[in-house]
Amino acid sequence: MNISFYGPHTQLNLWEAAFLKHCPQAFFKAWESGDAPADYAIVWRPSMQFFTEQTQLKAVFNLGAGVDAVIKHTNLPATLPIVKLEDAGMAQQMFEYVLYAVLHYFRNMDAYDFQQKNRLWSELPISKTAADFVVGVMGLGNIGQYVAQQLAAYGFTVQGWSRTEKALKGVRTHAGLPALGNFLEQLDAVVLLLPHTPETKHILNQERLAQLKAGAALINVGRGDLLCVPALLEALDANHLRGAFLDVFEVEPLPATSPLWTHPKVRLTPHISASTLIEPSMAQIAQKILRLEAGKPISGIVNPNLGY
Ligand code: GLV
Repeated sequence: MNISFYGPHTQLNLWEAAFLKHCPQAFFKAWESGDAPADYAIVWRPSMQFFTEQTQLKAVFNLGAGVDAVIKHTNLPATLPIVKLEDAGMAQQMFEYVLYAVLHYFRNMDAYDFQQKNRLWSELPISKTAADFVVGVMGLGNIGQYVAQQLAAYGFTVQGWSRTEKALKGVRTHAGLPALGNFLEQLDAVVLLLPHTPETKHILNQERLAQLKAGAALINVGRGDLLCVPALLEALDANHLRGAFLDVFEVEPLPATSPLWTHPKVRLTPHISASTLIEPSMAQIAQKILRLEAGKPISGIVNPNLGY
């Protein structure tokens, strides 16, 4: 069986070896224009040309949890299964990143950064315990559920919001847009872990940011356009929001001209909150391909109409 790989070219030999370990009978090739038709594709942000040429695919495996960069190619055959990565080592990384960001605000590191820059030695009162600090997680897929439950296990009070009803042990959950305002107004920090879909674009617009409690912090690790950046900057400058910890942006790499780079209330990182790990992702994809070849069902097939 032929596998066409449209992924990172760095460490190509490691991606290949990790895949072939689980599926030694396959022929694995980094895609080049003019290649013979492949049976399966493993992709990250593939070009349209890739799909124009690769017309015999039985399934497309995305090298990430968010499939927006695949389903934006609207002329893909409706019958072509698109499969997302399910956790594969990303949930734990995401929890670590989000915990760091939540602690940044909970332990007043934003205020101490400011104090250090101004040579101020001043002990701030700790007014809350972790249980008094309410963290809201928007998006309760594989990764969001894990992050929410780990934050709760750590000791924070955690609430979750998702498009459809989800029951999570230890986490109070809310569902649907009508419930969003009530969810937002209770939070000390909101964590965005939603996928990019037509419904989630700018879900945190000016009106919704205003619904957050005064002094709340925002952490975006989902997709850049969940958030309306001019409205965020306004909310930060008006001191309605305390700060923003951002890992994803509408345009990546973030243009050098973006005011986010230098905003004193913004911490940012270059889309590294949860990276795709070679071994677990290749193991998961190879095992799913073997199941498909054996006529067995697999999990993780996305609904292109929903966008995840
Ligand atoms: C990363 O952005 C992913 O979708 O996994």
